[in-house]
Amino acid sequence: MYSDADAAALYDLLNPWDPGQWPGDAFYAELITPADAVLDVGCGTGAMLHWAREHGHTGRLVGLDPDGVALARARRRADVEWVDGTAATMGWQSEFELAVMTGHAFQFLLADDDIRASLRAVRAALRAGGRFAFESRHPQARAWEAWNPSNGSEVTDAAGRALRVWHEVQGVADGVVTFTGTLADPDGTVLRVDRERLRFLEEAALDALLAEAGFEVEARYGDWTRGPVTPDSREIVTIARRPS
Ligand SMILES: C[S@@+](CC[C@H](N)C(=O)[O-])C[C@H]1O[C@@H](n2cnc3c(N)ncnc32)[C@H](O)[C@@H]1O
Repeated sequence: MYSDADAAALYDLLNPWDPGQWPGDAFYAELITPADAVLDVGCGTGAMLHWAREHGHTGRLVGLDPDGVALARARRRADVEWVDGTAATMGWQSEFELAVMTGHAFQFLLADDDIRASLRAVRAALRAGGRFAFESRHPQARAWEAWNPSNGSEVTDAAGRALRVWHEVQGVADGVVTFTGTLADPDGTVLRVDRERLRFLEEAALDALLAEAGFEVEARYGDWTRGPVTPDSREIVTIARRPS
């Protein structure tokens, strides 16, 4: 009743990439702009790389994602390389100055072994001295507690259709939160339900996995203005480096 393609378009409407408005987007824009070869792992609909090209990036831009519908939207721009695949299975060797995972894409890596394989592949894709920037929601902030139907919102999609969207948590186990996202007509008629699972890694566990994969943590922040991680931080923002 609400297609995957329509849902991808709605994602872009609800999550516009705009460094002028969103501090998280500004954080990544600062890193991407001077980097001559950028790999966006879990690029989704490609909004960030679209923005980079539109704003004069002349270097190599590559977006990788296993979601064919999101990638089809990304491919509306042909001056960026789009690759269908997962982080763990990508095979680039020493090609990129910068790799990123934005929009909490890192949390889609659920099992330690998938995180290990993904980090190894990102490290291999980077040149010596290259950097990997990404964020993960800090478990201490328990963001999932706000994902309930009473926090739903009304939106109007690009076709002018009024919708109600809400989330509902099914379970929390071993650092993995399982939840649904529901789209409904204003009268409550459900149009689609998407089930998702996200990993919430503790900082120490994340750092152990980064070290094991051969990364050095160059910078760690608890928010998008480059403040430190504190007991109130909602994010764990990392810039990791492949040693020279
Ligand atoms: C919330 S979206 C973020 C998209 C985009 N980076 C953004 O900032 O809007 C998470 C993306 O991660 C992708 N993803 C899930 N598992 C992945 C994996 N193993 N490797 C790479 N990408 C993955 C999903 O398909 C999805 O497009």
